[in-house]
Parts: sequence; C-alpha cells; structure tokens
Amino acid sequence: MSNKSFNKKLINEEVNFEEVNPSNRPVISQTDIRGIITYTNSVFRKLSGYKKGEMLGKPHNIIRHPDMPKIIFKEMWDTALNGKAWNGVIKNLIKDGRYYWVEAFITPIYHDNGMIIGFSSARKSMDENLKKYYEDKYKEIKLKELKDNNNIYN
Ligand SMILES: Cc1cc2nc3c(=O)[nH]c(=O)nc-3n(C[C@H](O)[C@H](O)[C@H](O)COP(=O)(O)O)c2cc1C
Repeated sequence: MSNKSFNKKLINEEVNFEEVNPSNRPVISQTDIRGIITYTNSVFRKLSGYKKGEMLGKPHNIIRHPDMPKIIFKEMWDTALNGKAWNGVIKNLIKDGRYYWVEAFITPIYHDNGMIIGFSSARKSMDENLKKYYEDKYKEIKLKELKDNNNIYN
C-alpha cells in the first residue's frame, strides 16, 4: 500500500497496552514472506480493535500508524529477510483511529528445507520513559523523511 493512499481516521488518544492486556499474555501475529497476516491471537486483535477473521489475509500495514518513520520498517524487513531477529519499537494504529505503543520482536519462520516461509511477531508493553524517548526520536526522523521527500502526504 502506498503511503499516499493513507486515509484512515486518526484520533490522538493512546490505548494503554497493560490495560488491555493486564495478565501480560503474549501478543502475537504471523505473516507470510510478503507480510500478509496468516495468524493473530485474540489479545493482539483486541489491542488493535479487530474481530476474528478481519485481519487474516490483509497486509500487516493495516495497523501502520502514519507517525512511524519509513526507515524503521525498512530496517525491520532488511533484518528479517536476512534471517535475523529484529527488535524495535512501534506505534500502531487501532481500527478506530487511536494508537498503542509496543516493543516488538520479529523473527523468521523457517521451512524444513531452510527457506524462510514467514515471520512471527511477539510484542510487549513499554516503559513510559522509553516510549517518550521513541516518540521524540520518531518525530525527528519522520520530519527529516518528509523534508527529504518534500511530500506532505508521506
Ligand atoms: C511479523 C510481522 C509483524 C509486523 N508487525 C507490524 C506492526 O505491528 N505494525 C506495523 O505498522 N507494521 C508491522 N509490520 C510491518 C508491515 O508489514 C509494513 O512493512 C509496515 O506496516 C509499513 O508499511 P509499508 O511497508 O506499506 O510502508 C510487521 C511485519 C511482519 C513481517
């Protein structure tokens, strides 16, 4: 999906990960090699505001928040497609327009023949200070990306 087609509703209100997931269950999604969602667990759907079946078959960027810099996902894909685990911080878009922050751990899923057939992501809640740090850092990167592209819709 091109960034220019982003036309989802945005609400500047955070949903707290720990309130939705007080028992700290694993928050999981899996994709195929292209990032099409093949599995979600219930707590991930609850956090993201989707019902069972609504996320399956969709590209994982359905929860991409426009505040996320492009370079973060580029690094993520470069790492994961190289067969390595990636660990990073993501601001995600909830279906209703709100958002949540997570620390994500993305790992390749291998077939017996050694080929990467997909990816798995597990997420955990974030410390408030760290969240603030990334909020500022991503704003800075995003601003630079916008300037470099000279494109206000990016
Ligand atoms: C296993 C896995 C989990 C992902 N989880 C997220 C996620 O939680 N939020 C997100 O915005 N992108 C996630 N992505 C990255 C998306 O596929 C996509 O690259 C990103 O949303 C940026 O969109 P774009 O590639 O269309 O620019 C994940 C990818 C994989 C392979």
